Amino acid sequence: MAEAADAGWGGPLEFRLLRPELVAPLSAFFRAFAQGPDRAFFHPHPMTDEVAARICAYDGRDLYYAACAAGGVVAYGLLRGWEEGFDSPSLGIAIHPEARGRGLARPFMAFLHAAAKVRGATKVRLTVYRDNQRAVELYRRLGYTFEPKNERELVGVLSL
Ligand SMILES: CC(C)(COP(=O)(O)OP(=O)(O)OC[C@H]1O[C@@H](n2cnc3c(N)ncnc32)[C@H](O)[C@@H]1OP(=O)(O)O)[C@@H](O)C(=O)NCCC(=O)NCCS
Repeated sequence: MAEAADAGWGGPLEFRLLRPELVAPLSAFFRAFAQGPDRAFFHPHPMTDEVAARICAYDGRDLYYAACAAGGVVAYGLLRGWEEGFDSPSLGIAIHPEARGRGLARPFMAFLHAAAKVRGATKVRLTVYRDNQRAVELYRRLGYTFEPKNERELVGVLSL
């Protein structure tokens, strides 16, 4: 945890619905992610200050969450598709480049699955690049089954 503590993330972990008071930490997260090594693997929307503000002001059926520690956003997760009329949401997750490898991904995924189930979903789906081995392995261990989407991507589905 040394790097996390160095980054000021030693505070207690919280999973929080994104709200206007989290605009600045979410913007900082998006900037760090957009400069990180895995930015090409996760692009649900532009990683800009404008989008951070829109997400934190959003009050519709989709769900946008952050894992926070000591005022910073250490991970971002979304469940969307309900707003468009789908029964099963698409899940997305990204951990801050400096907060990876610390076991945050599994509990945050479990939280997102629970949030989807509470909202009435019986399944979640996601799209992942085949060469995103870390993510594919994480999802496989959580029970996702995959089908090809195209040459580069898989669609994963989990029954809740
Ligand atoms: C994918 C991501 C969320 C995983 O988070 P992480 O903090 O790096 O992952 P963790 O260290 O908690 O490891 C989670 C799992 O990944 C797998 N994993 C970790 N390192 C790995 C490696 N080098 N190779 C393959 N799999 C690996 C393991 O299955 C691990 O599970 P375990 O806890 O049973 O060992 C994170 O790397 C990330 O944000 N990547 C960029 C955004 C992204 O790709 N999001 C997914 C888009 S579909």
